[in-house]
Amino acid sequence: MDIKWTKELSVGNEVIDSEHMNLIGLTNGVVHAILKRDCAALAQAFEMLEDRLHAHFVNEEKIALAAEFDYSKHKQAQLYSLRELRHMRDELLAKNCVWGDGTVDHFTRSLRNWMIDGHIVKLDMQMKPALLSRPCDFKNIADQK
Ligand SMILES: [Fe+2]
Repeated sequence: MDIKWTKELSVGNEVIDSEHMNLIGLTNGVVHAILKRDCAALAQAFEMLEDRLHAHFVNEEKIALAAEFDYSKHKQAQLYSLRELRHMRDELLAKNCVWGDGTVDHFTRSLRNWMIDGHIVKLDMQMKPALLSRPCDFKNIADQK
């Protein structure tokens, strides 16, 4: 079953929420490729997710700093999160799409937890008070290079 963004997952910022919706869609794409046992689609889905995640981390940092949120620990956690994703990708691709049902189950659950619980709930939700205390939507900040 696909994971979905709900308003309970809002971190109080339109730009970040919209990027999270997109990342959730891309995470579902990875899960679909695992369920189909399609290695080519899986490699592509992981690449798209990682690309968007990089861009998201850059935007998130700009927005957090503009909201005067102490970002140092957050940044470390993001790097760890990226390593976790790469580790999952490498483990899956190393098995050449010969995954038993237990492996499929384990990784689909891990990916959903990684995105929702790990990234949004445990990590980004910490920024919510700072983001809500600022009237700006930070759209221009996220667009800056
Ligand atoms: Fe995020």
